[in-house]
Amino acid sequence: MEKKIRIGALVSGRGTNLQAIVEACRRGFIDAEVVQAITNRAEAGAVDRCRKEGIPCLFIDHRNFPNREGFDAEAVAALRKAGTDLVVLAGFMRLLTPVLVRAFAGRIMNIHPSLLPAFPGLHPQKQALDHGVRFSGCTVHFVDEGVDSGPIILQAVVPVADDDSVESLQRRILEQEHIIYPQAIRLFVQERLAIEGRRVRILPPKDS
Ligand code: GAR
Repeated sequence: MEKKIRIGALVSGRGTNLQAIVEACRRGFIDAEVVQAITNRAEAGAVDRCRKEGIPCLFIDHRNFPNREGFDAEAVAALRKAGTDLVVLAGFMRLLTPVLVRAFAGRIMNIHPSLLPAFPGLHPQKQALDHGVRFSGCTVHFVDEGVDSGPIILQAVVPVADDDSVESLQRRILEQEHIIYPQAIRLFVQERLAIEGRRVRILPPKDS
């Protein structure tokens, strides 16, 4: 039997995306396991979820490092030690440096709550409302050295209602995040994602 893909997750917040990924692994939708989590916030809800799921969660305090590279080097060491094949950013609210991006080139995914390239960076749901778009959504992409700029794997569209608040839009986008993130990871695990420049080609299932 082939070795299961080992997922390392970087988290800063509630961890609902991490939870969706863990559950998708458990029910066999994704043939992989989350072997390590890393957080830069000890009080993140994701830490509790890891405890309940029996996933080791390492707290790396970014305040102990003079720069981002130092934090990233520590994260790379922990991810390597855990035998990580794929790194997923699941609500990780720090910019990555080339130290981490290059260590796992083509093997880091992120989810962002907008239809990239629209509204990268902070508060994308508010940016979408302020701009007055009729549709927003979420994007799973490979991570490159820019901000939310890597090749796009999957997107889901969410219509914006006239009476939407940031919270209501956020909630409906989050529901879609929990669907497309496991789908994107499943495609990676099935070796069905080919990065061609900016584009990601989705290959047919291997047995078809
Ligand atoms: C999610 O909406 C995710 O897309 C967003 O943070 C939230 C984390 O929720 N990520 C970013 O904005 C990254 N730039 P979660 O902790 O419940 O998964």
